Amino acid sequence: MSEAKPKIILRTEGFPDQRSIKTYVDKAEGYTAVRKVLGGLSREQVIEEVKQSGLRGRGGAGFLTGLKWSFVPKDMPGPKYLICNNDESEPGTFKDRYICTVNPHQIIEGMIIAAYAIGANKGYIYTRWEFQEEIGYLETAIKEAYEAGFLGKNLFGSGFDFELDHYSGAGAYICGEETGLISSLEGKKGQPKVKPPFPAVSGYLGRPTIVNNTETLANVPWIINHGAKAFRQWGTEKSPGTKLFSISGALNKPGVYEVPLGYPFASLLNDEGGGMQAGRSLKALIPGGASAPVLTPTECEGLTMDYEAMAQRGTMLGSGAVMIIDDRQSIAELLKVTIEFFAHESCGQCTPCREGTGWLNNIMDGILDRSAKPDNIERLRTVSRNMGGKTICALSDACAMPVMAFVQKFSDELQAYLAAGSGSHSK
Ligand SMILES: Cc1cc2nc3c(=O)[nH]c(=O)nc-3n(C[C@H](O)[C@H](O)[C@H](O)COP(=O)(O)O)c2cc1C
Repeated sequence: MSEAKPKIILRTEGFPDQRSIKTYVDKAEGYTAVRKVLGGLSREQVIEEVKQSGLRGRGGAGFLTGLKWSFVPKDMPGPKYLICNNDESEPGTFKDRYICTVNPHQIIEGMIIAAYAIGANKGYIYTRWEFQEEIGYLETAIKEAYEAGFLGKNLFGSGFDFELDHYSGAGAYICGEETGLISSLEGKKGQPKVKPPFPAVSGYLGRPTIVNNTETLANVPWIINHGAKAFRQWGTEKSPGTKLFSISGALNKPGVYEVPLGYPFASLLNDEGGGMQAGRSLKALIPGGASAPVLTPTECEGLTMDYEAMAQRGTMLGSGAVMIIDDRQSIAELLKVTIEFFAHESCGQCTPCREGTGWLNNIMDGILDRSAKPDNIERLRTVSRNMGGKTICALSDACAMPVMAFVQKFSDELQAYLAAGSGSHSK
């Protein structure tokens, strides 16, 4: 169990028929954790074990999973819901869809356990429409689980019922935000709602609802089977366990890798990722998806892949989308596509986000066609400063944070890009 590259999530990766129920059951302890839970553990015991494990949500914010489950009011009568957030909308992230490809049953088993812990008898997996293949894998797995008696009524003779459905979103970044997702699942426009009330108290159809990321839920069966202490043997004190990183860019082996949290960035890049492609060098690193502030190569020295190390450097682990920016890439063009994405995906409810992302996008147009004034680069920062912490959800911050970091760390390159133009400053 103490191997250097443990597998908690990708236990069936590469096995023949890796995502079938048979492979999971025969080769990877499939559905034994849920038997253990429904065979005699109380809800409180399950929540306590997950709390003790220190599992942090893998959807981006890193919130403690057991603690979140404990917010669901215990004695409130009426329905409660569990939602698996499989929207995977953060640019650069492709690890949740990989879990669906390798082992969708582990998500289902994690969901049954989580549902039992919070007292929910109904669950949904919410996936963006574009993931047609993965939706097929999930639907097949749900069917297999029903046929095996692992979903439905009176599971394992425990008296606990759990019904699970799959729901496809239309493919919007905002529907990855949990309250936007809930609105979408309710058949409304995918627009976030003000918190509080938090979904744990008033979520889907106004009922207590837990929304957890796919990878978060996929950790749960292993934790129940092996215990919190075993889980904590990997990772750091505040970031225990393993994490999937989807690493992309000019490296030799881009892909999804499971490594312990706290793993050196240099090893992830060179061992798992096969190193930079010949002739290419690292210009910058975006460590946790498009909303994570960029790091320079100097800041990457000694960097480890965990929540604390990223926070110390003023960035985020986010969803674990590691984007390698190489020497060929233009920061101005990268910044433009990043901002354009957020401007396109803003739901428009909040003025600082709707207008701010649009203004940033206009400024970038001026920089790209070299018609902007030199002080427009600094204006990117002043606009961004007025976008953070002022809106219903964090999409506005998700745009503002990387912009401020790019301008702070690469202003010389942005100025040089502008100066390389015709010199006509019409804006
Ligand atoms: C704009 C925006 C987009 C988000 N997209 C996703 C997403 O695609 N997948 C996800 O799991 N969480 C996403 N989140 C975070 C969710 O709101 C929520 O915190 C998460 O699903 C909780 O699960 P966890 O506690 O297991 O991490 C997003 C948040 C914001 C503000």
